[in-house]
Amino acid sequence: MSTFWSCYIIVITVAMLAGCLWLLFANSRGKPGESTGHVWDDDLREFNNPLPRWWLNLFVLTVVFAAGYLVFYPGLGNLGGRLGWTSTKQMQENLDRITQRRRAAFAALAGKDIPALAQDPAARSLGHAVFLNNCAGCHGADARGAVGFPNLADNDWLFGGSPEAIVETITHGRQAAMPPIGAGLSAEAVQTLVDFVPFWSDPGLDAAKREAGMKQFALTCAACHGADGKGNQALGAPNLTDDIWLFRGGREGVRETIMHGRQGMMPAHENILSPDEIRVVASYVYGLSHGAQAGPPGQP
Ligand code: HEC
Ligand code: HEC
Repeated sequence: MSTFWSCYIIVITVAMLAGCLWLLFANSRGKPGESTGHVWDDDLREFNNPLPRWWLNLFVLTVVFAAGYLVFYPGLGNLGGRLGWTSTKQMQENLDRITQRRRAAFAALAGKDIPALAQDPAARSLGHAVFLNNCAGCHGADARGAVGFPNLADNDWLFGGSPEAIVETITHGRQAAMPPIGAGLSAEAVQTLVDFVPFWSDPGLDAAKREAGMKQFALTCAACHGADGKGNQALGAPNLTDDIWLFRGGREGVRETIMHGRQGMMPAHENILSPDEIRVVASYVYGLSHGAQAGPPGQP
């Protein structure tokens, strides 16, 4: 606050307090039952009825309290109170206390490996909190994901579901790139793939379509998705032979992927979370596909 506004506030505050006192005392004079001398309509008189003493004293006390408060706590412009209290300082102290408690909670879990942490209720509770604050916005509160955001609660992995792979994913992020390959293919070739890829796992698929699709797939797609279509975790290329779709499945979804490509991005968290927090949230995620329920432990 500039000096001008600080003085402005001090003057107004002090004037208000003084004004209150003046008003109280100015109205406390006179005896009960004494006429003020005001008469209307011949016989309507105004009498002076001052506040009862105890009532008046209560008002005076509030003014004294306010003055005392301003001596000890900030309130008069830029003048800090004698106690040196500020809301920022108090918030910082509370934050420090919470941070210390959190550090201690995480330190108590250091040294345990991730599969063990995944079964530990204290770790799961912390992991759930970290997950809700940092991951749920994209992966959903139940970790089941959405179109473009993978389900972390199944055991189907783009980049690998080992403890190390999950830690790596969270720490450094992942950038998947499916090129818009369809732009360089004939409409016929694209159609062949669209008629085959979404139905890979469907035993009822027409044999001729499967054969033509496999042939085209080997030419243009197998380099990343593997000759058997089961994907490649080093690239984040998904398994196309199961019925789990990260993006839209079906003919239209697959056509869109082939024509326009996909660039899913998992952000790096190394500057957001401490290594301990990453291990704990990784163990929470690991637990989801190893028998644990999403949510705090003990919840059905
Ligand atoms: C801004 C959105 C976003 C946030 C926040 C985010 N993720 Fe992701 N995450 C993604 C996307 C998108 C992918 C998939 C990338 C791709 O398409 O290949 C992904 C992938 C992953 C994977 C790999 C899944 C697999 O099948 O291999 C894991 C594990 C993961 N995220 C965990 C987390 C955790 C834990 C957090 C919180 C600390 C988190 N994510 C926060 C968007 C996000
Ligand atoms: C350069 C490597 C590469 C090539 C070549 C490639 N893909 Fe992909 N594909 C990927 C990656 C990586 C992803 C995951 C993209 C993401 O997560 O953002 C992907 C995703 C997909 C998806 C989405 C899967 C889902 O679960 O939603 C489909 C479908 C797909 N590719 C089909 C194909 C077809 C068909 C071809 C051949 C025309 C092909 N891809 C060629 C790397 C490749």
